[in-house]
Amino acid sequence: MSDGFRKVAIIGLGLIGGSLAAALRARGMADSIVAGGRSARTLERGLALGLIDAGYQNLAEAVEGADLVFVAVPVSAMADTFAAIAPTLAPGAIITDGGSVKGAVIEAARAQLGAHRSRFVPGHPIAGKEKSGVDAADAALYERHRVILTPTPDTDPAATLVVRQMWTRVGAEVLTMRPDEHDRVLAETSHLPHLLAFSLVDTLARQGDSTEIFRYAAGGFRDFTRIASSDPVMWHDIFTENREAVLAATDLFAAGLARFRAAVAAGDSDALLGTMTRANTARARFLAMNARTSYTHIHTEQSMSTDSHSTGAPANPVFVVQPGGQLSGQARVPGDKSMSHRAIMLGALAEGVTEVEGFLEGEDALATLQTFRDLGVVIEGPHAGRVRIHGVGLHGLQAPSRSLYMGNSGTSMRLLMGLLAGQPFDCELTGDASLSKRPMERVAQPLRDMGAAVSTTDSGGKGTPPVRIRGGKPLKGIDYNMPVASAQVKSAILLAGLYAQGETRVTEPAPTRDHTERMLTGFGYPVQRDGASVTLNGGGTLRACQLDVPADISSAAFFLVAASIAPGSELLLPHVGINPTRTGVIDILRLMGADITVENERDAGGEPVADLRVKSAPLKGIVIPEALVPLAIDEFPVLFVAAACAEGDTILHGAEELRVKESDRIQVMADGLLALGVEAEVYPDGIRIRGAGQGNAAFTGGEIHSHGDHRIAMSFAMAALRASGEIRIHDCANVATSFPGFAELAARVGLQLAVQQ
Ligand code: S3P
Repeated sequence: MSDGFRKVAIIGLGLIGGSLAAALRARGMADSIVAGGRSARTLERGLALGLIDAGYQNLAEAVEGADLVFVAVPVSAMADTFAAIAPTLAPGAIITDGGSVKGAVIEAARAQLGAHRSRFVPGHPIAGKEKSGVDAADAALYERHRVILTPTPDTDPAATLVVRQMWTRVGAEVLTMRPDEHDRVLAETSHLPHLLAFSLVDTLARQGDSTEIFRYAAGGFRDFTRIASSDPVMWHDIFTENREAVLAATDLFAAGLARFRAAVAAGDSDALLGTMTRANTARARFLAMNARTSYTHIHTEQSMSTDSHSTGAPANPVFVVQPGGQLSGQARVPGDKSMSHRAIMLGALAEGVTEVEGFLEGEDALATLQTFRDLGVVIEGPHAGRVRIHGVGLHGLQAPSRSLYMGNSGTSMRLLMGLLAGQPFDCELTGDASLSKRPMERVAQPLRDMGAAVSTTDSGGKGTPPVRIRGGKPLKGIDYNMPVASAQVKSAILLAGLYAQGETRVTEPAPTRDHTERMLTGFGYPVQRDGASVTLNGGGTLRACQLDVPADISSAAFFLVAASIAPGSELLLPHVGINPTRTGVIDILRLMGADITVENERDAGGEPVADLRVKSAPLKGIVIPEALVPLAIDEFPVLFVAAACAEGDTILHGAEELRVKESDRIQVMADGLLALGVEAEVYPDGIRIRGAGQGNAAFTGGEIHSHGDHRIAMSFAMAALRASGEIRIHDCANVATSFPGFAELAARVGLQLAVQQ
């Protein structure tokens, strides 16, 4: 499109047609806009509202000389409309439509538009509202709504481009689909729900005294049946014109309804809970997709208008943090990520129902939860950190019907590789862009030694996801000396060991987190620990139990550093897990001079917990003892922020593992520090950071790229406390993988953080 259209003719001046006229007018996209329609009253209203310059009851007259014609009449009237306008269409005129069914409209266009048919671009704006008619026309109706175009092989691509640009300019998001695919998808997601709503209300209304029934009907009935108020004539047309696809969708639903009925009749609780928990998750995902945010972020539901799907703005949040400030009060950080993963895994393999409190509702742990649902396990929740897992026993998992998606979560993938290696079925494990670059051979190779059939994807010899596992391979125990200090590798081998013949023994080069060993013991599974080695025998039984997941020390670490570096701060972090294999961050900060007290130490189901109190203190640079590296492996990004505030240099070696986390955390942190004016020297296995010392701003303001790594984003947010200018951190959606609610919590205790969507 050059500057705009000379003349646009809208045929059918209702809500859809009138709103396009209003939108084109508001943006000055047409020299003249006219309308054609049967009702003289409607055309007069269009003129009075200033939507159109002229109105014609004779459609042939309306389209004369128009370079764009938008046909927005009911689908059943399309054929007659095309026949009426074809003789007077200008050569080269582009015709498009707003019909909710595409197959039937395309047929009508083929039959009636003659030579003009290649300039017909079939379209469907997915927008609407409860009110109809020209008086409801709204120039903003299409903003942030989807328009589906379904060009056929006959459609002139130049015409499609013009129509696409027109919709984009009025604010819509344009998608392209095959016409039959459009009709099937719409039948399932729009036509079927309307059919059900009409049918339910009518069925109940036919029963005896319907006023009695409706008197007791509450919010659920109102929500479910809202769309039964839609225009019967329009929906008559849709059900008639999209007959085949509507019938197929109705049959699909009838089969689902029959399954549900059978479960109710048989009192089959697992089937009932399974159906409903799967539906809960699927709906949360759908809402998240629509809002284009992470699916843990759905607190309020979007209002959806008749025959419409709302779409939110594309969201990869930016953290905007103002410099300075101090922290005070209490911050209860979410549940431990490592323990949340293991709670789901072991709960699923146990006999009986395991109840979990404090479960982390972050995307990584939810990826594990979803995977077990895909493997046939019924899991209730999470609701406010509570989860009930209906264990299926060591041999009760079922083959998944699709590949298992782990999102961003390395722990899910590595631990599940071990667990799935012992199953009788095949499966494939996939992940997001970051996880797809991470090394998986470190787990695959010892699993092969146990007899498993595991393959990774080569990607330049790195052995990355997708990971494929062939089931039905008998496993045998091994005695494995781990070359890297990795709790994930250790845990994967132990989980495979549950299915192996004989004894499985893993020896680690340095202590790593031992939640798997502790939790197996909690589930009544015998595990022997002897120095650096852990041993178990296959073929035992896990018994369901109750678990209380403490707050995650890796999430608490951001606040430990923040309160340490911001003068005048004092913060209490309650109920934090202080397992000695996780407390390296406290040891390192204390070596740097931090003021952290561990109060009220107690035991929570086999894991030590305490309240941590931290007060600001002058920090000094140190050489970080290498023995502490595996015990603080996830906390280095924020420890680097502490180092930049300390007096003198801080030096880290022996931390090459940081390069294969969610991002290359040595390089990405060094780049960020540099962008904020901090001097840093990178080593293959670590970094040297020059600190600014107490009383000085340690960072300038600036722009940070988190590379989709949650811990990088949160670390640089805390840096603002000692910055001289605003820090903007891009790409923060993944903060939800480990710390949903981070921004709100940090702001509540004093960080001047705002989230820009
Ligand atoms: C984890 C182990 C660590 C850690 C990760 C969680 C676990 O990874 O970085 O966030 O839950 O076992 P490695 O085993 O690769 O060190």
